[in-house]
Amino acid sequence: MPPIEIIKDIHWVGAIDWNIRDFHGYSVDRGTTYNAFLVMDDKITLFDTVKRGFREDLIGNISRIVDPASIQYLVVNHVEMDHSSLLPEIVELVQPKKIFCSEMGRKNLVAHFHSERWPYEVVKTGDTISLGKRQVRFIETRMLHWPDSMFSYIPEERLLISSDAFGQHLATTERYDDEVDLSMLLGHAAKYYANIILPYSNLVQKLLAQVREIGLEIDMIAPDHGLIWRTNPGKILECYDEWSQQKGKLKALVVYDTMWHSTEMMARAIMEGLIEEGVSAQLFDLAVSHRSDVVTEVLDAGALVIGSATINNGMLPRMADLLHYLRGLRPLNKIGAAFGSYGWSGEAVKLITTAMEEMKFEIIDPGIKVHYVPSDDDLKRCVDLGHRVAKALQEKTQDRIQSSGEAVPI
Ligand code: FEO
Repeated sequence: MPPIEIIKDIHWVGAIDWNIRDFHGYSVDRGTTYNAFLVMDDKITLFDTVKRGFREDLIGNISRIVDPASIQYLVVNHVEMDHSSLLPEIVELVQPKKIFCSEMGRKNLVAHFHSERWPYEVVKTGDTISLGKRQVRFIETRMLHWPDSMFSYIPEERLLISSDAFGQHLATTERYDDEVDLSMLLGHAAKYYANIILPYSNLVQKLLAQVREIGLEIDMIAPDHGLIWRTNPGKILECYDEWSQQKGKLKALVVYDTMWHSTEMMARAIMEGLIEEGVSAQLFDLAVSHRSDVVTEVLDAGALVIGSATINNGMLPRMADLLHYLRGLRPLNKIGAAFGSYGWSGEAVKLITTAMEEMKFEIIDPGIKVHYVPSDDDLKRCVDLGHRVAKALQEKTQDRIQSSGEAVPI
C-alpha cells in the first residue's frame, strides 16, 4: 500500500497485515495495520515503525518520499513488538540524531533490544520539541496500555498520534474513518477496546479528563492500528468515554459450553426468561464463539449468565479459557449467575460462581445445577432464572438512572 499524505507534509507510511488472525489471543478476523507517520519538516521525523516482516512496506513507503537516511528524529510512542520489532534495522539504516520516548520507553527499548547506546531523548508529559515549522508535544499515557505508552500531539495541525489508543484491528485499503461504514468501524474499535484497553478504563477516564483540562484541540486522531479519525474524532473520544464508564446496558449474555446438550438446553431456557422480560439477550456457545467476540459483547452488557457442564471435577476447558481471559480484562458492574449439568459431582457451577465473585460480579443466584438431562421442572427453573436476572438488571439500571439523572435507559 503506497504512502498517503494525511496532512500537508505528513504521510502515512505504514503497512497492511491482511493475513494475521490471532493477536496474542485476540481474534483479528479482518487483519490489522501497523501505522507509522513521516513528518517532512526541518527535522524529518518518523513516528513509530512497524512489525518485523513489513520492512519493505515501511522502507519502500518512506523512500517514495525521501531518502530514509535523511530522517533525523524517531519517536517511539510504544515499545510493543508490533511497532518496534523493525526498529533496530531502522536505527541502523537511518542513524537518527535523536530517539524520543518516555523514560519507561527507554528502559523497555533497552530490555527488548539491548540498545543502551542509541541516542535517547527521554520526554515526559508537557515536554515539547520543535521540528521546524511544527512542534510536537508529548503526553505520557502510562498503562494505556503499556508502561511506556505515550501520545504525540502536533498543535499546528491539531493532530494526535495516539499509539494503540483509538485503534482498530482492521485491514483496509481505505485509510480514513469516513471512507468506510462508521458502525462497522466503531464495532472494530469496540472490540479493540474490550480486548486491550478495558482493564485500564479508570486511566482512560483520567486521560480524557486531562485532555479536556489542557484544552487539547483535535481535528485528527491517527492511531497505530486501523483507520485515521479525520471526520469523527469526537465520536471515538465519546465512545471511549462511554466504554470506560462500564455502566452496563439492559443487555444480558448467556454464555455456555456443553457436553451432551443439557447445558445448552438450560441456556436456551434462560434466554427465554430474559426475552420474556424484554431484555436484549445474546447467546454464545463457546464451541463456535471466539473468546474475544464474547468479550466484545461483555463491554456493554449488564449481566452475564454463564454455564458449563462438569468434567473431571471442573468446568469444560473452553469455559476455563474464557473466564481466565475475562478475569484479566477486569470488567466492572456486571450481574452474574451460573448454571450447568453434571453427572456425579457438579463442581462447574460453583467454580464459575467463584470466578464471577472474584471479578466482583453481583451474584443473584447460587447457581442452577441439573443432574444429567434437565426435566421440565428444571427448565422452568432456568426460565425463572432468566426472569430474575432480567429484573435485577432492570432495577439496577433504574437505580443508576435515578441517581445519575440519565435521561434514557439504553
Ligand atoms: Fe499495537 Fe500495544 O501494540
